[in-house]
Amino acid sequence: MASRVCDSVLVTGSNRGIGLELVRQLVDSPSSPLQIFAGCRDPNGPRAQELQELAQKHHDVITVVQLDTDSVASIADASKLVEAKLNGSGLNLIINNAGVNIPGSLAESGTQEMVDVFTTNVVGPMLIAKNFRPLLCKAAAQVPHQTSMSCRRSAVVNISSILSSLTTCADNFNLCPMYPYRVSKAALNMLTCCLAEDFKKEGILVISLHPGWVQTGMGGPQAPLTTAESVSCMMKVITSLTEKDSGTLLDWEGKSLPW
Ligand SMILES: NC(=O)c1ccc[n+]([C@@H]2O[C@H](COP(=O)([O-])OP(=O)(O)OC[C@H]3O[C@@H](n4cnc5c(N)ncnc54)[C@H](OP(=O)(O)O)[C@@H]3O)[C@@H](O)[C@H]2O)c1
Repeated sequence: MASRVCDSVLVTGSNRGIGLELVRQLVDSPSSPLQIFAGCRDPNGPRAQELQELAQKHHDVITVVQLDTDSVASIADASKLVEAKLNGSGLNLIINNAGVNIPGSLAESGTQEMVDVFTTNVVGPMLIAKNFRPLLCKAAAQVPHQTSMSCRRSAVVNISSILSSLTTCADNFNLCPMYPYRVSKAALNMLTCCLAEDFKKEGILVISLHPGWVQTGMGGPQAPLTTAESVSCMMKVITSLTEKDSGTLLDWEGKSLPW
């Protein structure tokens, strides 16, 4: 039997798009985690129906957690709920997937657009890392014979974007100017670098991962990748991460991208 992806995982923004597919493929995998915490900002709303149906089908594995990553109180409450459900164990993996895009040229982008996108795409993942750090540390410490880093031990995956890349901005800027989104994802990458350094001593791996251009509400129908294709590739990348990957930006096929 294949070894488990990890014992426990939290996916943010898991009610639709890439997040929902992550939960679906995690639970359908023969090496499914024992506990999947599916974060969702409105678990009882119409947009969470598919997730709720999936969670009912796999009620022994999936716990839907109210988690609005824009809200400090919601993050704190979610971390308490996850801690209680883990019953003394640590949390192995966090996939910071929740994200927003307010497409905007310079003329269309003002304070509100910048702050709103930054709040979800940068502040949210930072507060999640801060609040869940004790659970990640506990997971890292619970693998006494394994000192190397991996998602089975303890890891944070920040879902970034190729549009974050300073190096390739000139190649794709005119296709999608998107000031708030690009700036926020570049900042998310810096968060990845800071966390990777900060969490290294505790054995927690941190990366940024670009999912490709994917058919979702955000990616649109013309995107070349389905959520199933993107996520099955990302799962291979996530499960084969090692120490050398921490603090890097990879794409869905595991290729290294320039900052
Ligand atoms: N699709 C692409 O081509 C593409 C390319 C590069 C990177 N990405 C990244 O991939 C990630 C997932 O994107 P997607 O394409 O799946 O987008 P999506 O279909 O628009 O889904 C976004 C998800 O994030 C959730 N979310 C947004 N703000 C939230 C908040 N404050 N708290 C909790 N959840 C929140 C949404 O929940 P609600 O239903 O409540 O709004 C939804 O579940 C994002 O980080 C995005 O930047 C996507």
